[in-house]
Amino acid sequence: MYNSKITGLGYYVPENVVTNDDLSKLMDTNDEWIQERTGIKERRWIEEGSEDTSAVMGAKAARIAIERAGLTTKDIDFIVFATLSPDYYFPGCGVQLQEMLDMRTVGALDIRNQCSGFVYGLSVADQFIKTGMYKNVLVVGSEFHSGGLDKTTRGRNVSVIFGDGAGAAVLSRTEDNTKGILSTHLHSEGKHAEELTVLAPSIRHWVPEILEANDETDESYFPYMNGTFVFKNAVVRFSEVIMEGLQKNNLQATDIDLFIPHQANLRISQFIQKKFKLNDDQVYNNIMNYGNTTAASIIIALSEAWEKGKIKDNDLVVLAAFGSGFTWGSVVMRW
Ligand code: ACO
Repeated sequence: MYNSKITGLGYYVPENVVTNDDLSKLMDTNDEWIQERTGIKERRWIEEGSEDTSAVMGAKAARIAIERAGLTTKDIDFIVFATLSPDYYFPGCGVQLQEMLDMRTVGALDIRNQCSGFVYGLSVADQFIKTGMYKNVLVVGSEFHSGGLDKTTRGRNVSVIFGDGAGAAVLSRTEDNTKGILSTHLHSEGKHAEELTVLAPSIRHWVPEILEANDETDESYFPYMNGTFVFKNAVVRFSEVIMEGLQKNNLQATDIDLFIPHQANLRISQFIQKKFKLNDDQVYNNIMNYGNTTAASIIIALSEAWEKGKIKDNDLVVLAAFGSGFTWGSVVMRW
């Protein structure tokens, strides 16, 4: 059986920096509240008139990852694209990426697992490679949140959290079974679907209905989050799925060289760090600079950590995510 290994990483974030002070000009909020509750200092939001969208940013990140893998777009056998903010209601961003990167008519799959999207995507790609079906799979996480947030005081508990950006990884076949993805672990619990959701547009909450009601600022368009409930579930599920990954591979928390949690909220990451008694060098966070970029957060952080030289050959790297659905998952890999 083959194994799969990340051979190229890349990320792209829009240039436009939005600080907490900038937000306080749009809504009743302040730097102290945001930093204390979430750890976020600033985020990137796509500027009006920019060409960037989830698909475009994904393509920019993908180009970097493919080049760093020493490949060309023609070498990619399959695309997995994770996003909760696709350019269209349908089709998905994966097919747009295929066209933008002028790839062969390879298959493209969009993943709708929100903050866990990249972990799910990596797991899907891993299976394709382990079965021998594909040699190089491109996994992208990309989000354009700023276009869909309620930037008034009504939406402040959500809108201050989210940022825009994209990351990409090339997962390639390797015959070295001591390296690469050791295991992936995926879970969901749909009964909590409406605790963190955007209701419209959807088949159940269709646009004309809302427009007929002549209320274009209908709350159904914007993300709803039961913050306290999400927080409580996140810390439990993060812990469980990290433990599951460690136990599966007979590892301890002390074996982790780098843990990259989904950048949901710095307080969640710090809770997990404390629970597993990880030191600061074992955990990578960048939510301070980019906010929560949901499906893109782990891959942006992984790419940035790699660029900064924080991942060395043979390091044990653990990724974990929790998000809307609820969905959660982890990936354990040997670099
Ligand atoms: N600025 C100022 N005040 C605010 C803001 C804001 N941006 N947002 C909410 N408030 C106010 C509320 O109106 C409320 O005021 P009130 O007491 O007068 O009614 C007060 O602050 C407390 O509001 P809560 O919503 O209870 O705020 P909480 O302390 O729970 O913090 C937060 C909100 C940060 C979202 C918190 O619930 C949390 O950390 N949840 C975890 C969920 C999370 O991190 N989600 C990230 C996305 S999901 C994911 O990636 C898994």
